[in-house]
Amino acid sequence: MEVQLRAWRMEDAEALAVIINNPKILANLRDGIPYPYTVSDGKDYITSVLNAERDQQYNWAIMAEETLAGSIGILRKNNIHRFTAELGYFLGEPFWGRGLCTAAVKAACAYIFENTDIMRIFAEPFAYNTGSCRVLEKAGFHFEGLLRKNAVKNGQILDMKLYALVKEDAAV
Ligand SMILES: CC(C)(COP(=O)(O)OP(=O)(O)OC[C@H]1O[C@@H](n2cnc3c(N)ncnc32)[C@H](O)[C@@H]1OP(=O)(O)O)[C@@H](O)C(=O)NCCC(=O)NCCS
Repeated sequence: MEVQLRAWRMEDAEALAVIINNPKILANLRDGIPYPYTVSDGKDYITSVLNAERDQQYNWAIMAEETLAGSIGILRKNNIHRFTAELGYFLGEPFWGRGLCTAAVKAACAYIFENTDIMRIFAEPFAYNTGSCRVLEKAGFHFEGLLRKNAVKNGQILDMKLYALVKEDAAV
């Protein structure tokens, strides 16, 4: 199945709400995403990314054959970390296990390194999130370390794993 990244459109809000209303997805993301997640929440999110400051964040809808499959975003950090950016993503459950996220991560990182001055992209999945760690490894990210007791999620203290891809390695 082919994956394409494209800009968000307001009409994606309905499909986004269907995807994100899934505790298995929310359990792996940061807090602050509403649950239940309404179409109006989806419209608010899409409005915010469409109005976001240029060069500070790059957000795409992940499309699989004309259907919204998920979301991927790369957010620039600031101050001394301004050439560093954080990667986040999720896919709707029906799309898991087909290599789609790996393809999306590769495409997003290639775009960033070709079109921006960002030199380092990192991600911090929960250590138990084997699927996400595997996505990063398959996309060429390096495991840089275990972040012990780095988060509290749903009442549990969790380790996270730090993965990063730097521009010169991506070009190889
Ligand atoms: C993580 C997620 C994005 C993966 O998307 P995906 O399209 O299924 O990923 P891919 O198919 O490209 O690759 C998944 C890989 O992980 C492996 N994998 C998945 N679950 C696994 C598990 N429990 N144990 C071991 N390997 C696992 C798959 O076998 C595959 O590796 P392979 O190609 O070597 O066989 C998707 O499951 C998701 O959205 N999860 C919820 C949100 C989330 O975790 N977001 C990331 C936050 S850091």
